[in-house]
Amino acid sequence: MGKNTNLRVLSGIQPSGRLHLGNYFGMMSRMIKYQSENELFCFIADYHALTTIPNSDELRLNTFNAACDFLALGLDPIKSTFWIQSSVPQVTELAWIISSHAGVGLLDRATSYKDKISQGIKPNVGLYSYPVLMAADILLFDTNIVPVGKDQKQHLEISREIAKRFNSSYGEAFIVPKPDIKEDTKLIPGVDGKKMSKSYDNVIPIFESEKEIKKSIMHIVTDNAEIDTPKNKDTTLFKLYTLFSDKEGILNLTNRYDNRGLRYGDVKKELYEKIMDYFRPYRQKREELLLDKSYVYDTLQHGAKKASQIADGVLDRIKSATGLNFGK
Ligand code: TRP
Repeated sequence: MGKNTNLRVLSGIQPSGRLHLGNYFGMMSRMIKYQSENELFCFIADYHALTTIPNSDELRLNTFNAACDFLALGLDPIKSTFWIQSSVPQVTELAWIISSHAGVGLLDRATSYKDKISQGIKPNVGLYSYPVLMAADILLFDTNIVPVGKDQKQHLEISREIAKRFNSSYGEAFIVPKPDIKEDTKLIPGVDGKKMSKSYDNVIPIFESEKEIKKSIMHIVTDNAEIDTPKNKDTTLFKLYTLFSDKEGILNLTNRYDNRGLRYGDVKKELYEKIMDYFRPYRQKREELLLDKSYVYDTLQHGAKKASQIADGVLDRIKSATGLNFGK
């Protein structure tokens, strides 16, 4: 069966350091699956990262690592279009154009901006207009579907709102994108039981050393129920274990939790083995990529070229719609 090229899927990720289970199950694995049936666009959002990483070495390194993460996890640069956001700078031009249709009230309500400020990040205009750039990312490629984690839901609503407002002035200029957010999937809990997130420092990394991964798994918080009592299944360790188990495995663990004699330490060790087994081929691939920088650079450059061509077409259309194509 050929690809359903009528549906264009796009998503991006900020290069924010070490990748963890929450990133993987929240968005990346779902997104990568799209590449076989649809037209997939995927980029590393380094312009966005600039709002919080004021250090060139760190940004460069994180960006390279994030690209390797995606490629190692199976993103196929031939089946999809894969690039670094800043190598298609047309997106900043579109961000400016659409900013006149982004109400201040809309941005004032953005909870992710408020969260960042409350974490002590200095308010700056880049941080404030982050959702406008994100809307430009999406609208620049006539995107139909945007797979994201739940935390990006409001950003997607802002993108849709901007597209609709723009269209109400200029006709059907933009495709109004739809989010693909798995409402039914539970949030991936971090080792402390809160949502797994780098900012809570509760992550289980995917590409760190075995020792680091083991350490984080051993930190999973458990209750102090006696060995001789049944255990509570609505808990972090149980939930994480089920991510790596089939139906039978889940049933088996359920029985062990419902009966006596279960030791959390054993479950943690098994979880560690499961995580290593699952990610071993990806970890291997990533090691190879880290040693083959020129392959990674060439791949990204090729992706940027493909993305750029589409961006130019859409930008021309939008500039015509607004009257910015003076003299053409
Ligand atoms: N804000 C997203 C995140 O932090 C990253 C992102 C930037 C993005 N632009 C995007 C996601 C466009 C989807 C579509 O995860």
